[in-house]
Amino acid sequence: MTEISVLFVCLGNICRSPTAEGVFRSKVARAGLQDQLKIDSAGTGDWHIGRAPDSRAQEYAAQAGYDLSNLRARLVSADDFDQFDYILAMDEQNLRDLQSMQPPDFNGYLGLFLEFDSGLPMQEVPDPYSMGAPAFRNAIQLIECGCDALIEEIQARLQQAS
Ligand code: 4NP
Repeated sequence: MTEISVLFVCLGNICRSPTAEGVFRSKVARAGLQDQLKIDSAGTGDWHIGRAPDSRAQEYAAQAGYDLSNLRARLVSADDFDQFDYILAMDEQNLRDLQSMQPPDFNGYLGLFLEFDSGLPMQEVPDPYSMGAPAFRNAIQLIECGCDALIEEIQARLQQAS
């Protein structure tokens, strides 16, 4: 069976990328694709390694029906370019940091997570860490849209492979 692997990346791996991981896991399970996907998240910064997602990220995710409590922050590594087909950055700075780590032989997809949703007016999930509740709610909404578009992309790819 074809397996596709997806890594979501932000700065701290405690707000946006674990939210994307949790939302995507839930939507993938609802689509019945959980056996065909490997899903993870990581950060480009090392401050929060080993920590659970930020309590505000967990709270707003829970309000939208997603449980992030089991996730733990980790640092993105060069090894991830061997392990993942899609490495998806939350913002342009995350993408630049990942591009600077990208080995020349990486043949997966490295880009902005929201690029798959052509209907959105923006391609970045703004960093909510130093912001208030509206920024966290906005992040969840953008992430839900991005995950729906990513599932369509992956379903099309799985169909091509079958
Ligand atoms: P994230 O948010 O990149 O969405 O996890 C942040 C979390 C922590 C920090 C910055 C952004 N920080 O500076 O500690």
